[in-house]
Amino acid sequence: MISVEDAIAGRQSTRGFLADKPVPRELILKVLEVAGRAPSGSNIQPWKVWVVTGAVKDALSKELLERHMSGDQGKRNYNYYPVEWREPYIGRRRECGWGLYSTLGIEKGDKEKMLRQHGRNYEFFGAPVGLFFTLDKDMELGSWLDTGMFIQSVMLAARGFGLETCPQAAFCNHFEMVTARVGIPDDQQLVCGMALGFPDPDAVVNTFRTTRIDPETFTTFAD
Ligand SMILES: Cc1cc2nc3c(=O)[nH]c(=O)nc-3n(C[C@H](O)[C@H](O)[C@H](O)COP(=O)(O)O)c2cc1C
Repeated sequence: MISVEDAIAGRQSTRGFLADKPVPRELILKVLEVAGRAPSGSNIQPWKVWVVTGAVKDALSKELLERHMSGDQGKRNYNYYPVEWREPYIGRRRECGWGLYSTLGIEKGDKEKMLRQHGRNYEFFGAPVGLFFTLDKDMELGSWLDTGMFIQSVMLAARGFGLETCPQAAFCNHFEMVTARVGIPDDQQLVCGMALGFPDPDAVVNTFRTTRIDPETFTTFAD
């Protein structure tokens, strides 16, 4: 049995999956059942999950990838990041981005390779399952908080069954296409996508490990 520490600290954003190893529907539902124990204010459980596999996933990936490779970056309908980047966040973001690209041997300035790698998002990095998380549009900030906890719970629950994940805000850039193709109604706000599957042990990209700041850096004790 995996320890809580291993479940949390051993999770990583996985960007290489075994495309031909399917995840049975019962297993997807089991992961979501476990994750559904996530807390939410007054237990309102505001999240919704949309699962794409097979032909629907393939058609969506194809269309999104074509759009991405044509240079259309899309536009989100919510700000995930600060409008004005500043330190220390911009530095951490750069370290993460360059770390990933250098793991893949992509040099600074190689825009074509960077574009292609970013495009892998739209293929769910080869995962057999794609998840989309939405909220009713009239829900407030607290429900976004609840949904974030639920999403992390999905990532941790998945690990208990040998599965890995990559949370993907990239899909929000093309939220209109995603919602139309998946059949998500207009009253839903797309929060995040996610790749889900069994990790490819031979994928170089999965050797990339991000760093973390020490808890002393973000913690203040008042005695
Ligand atoms: C809400 C959310 C959205 C993310 N979106 C993307 C994405 O679109 N594409 C991607 O490759 N990684 C994405 N990530 C992964 C982050 O880059 C990653 O969590 C971070 O660099 C820390 O690395 P780790 O998850 O391996 O610990 C996202 C993470 C979160 C929490």
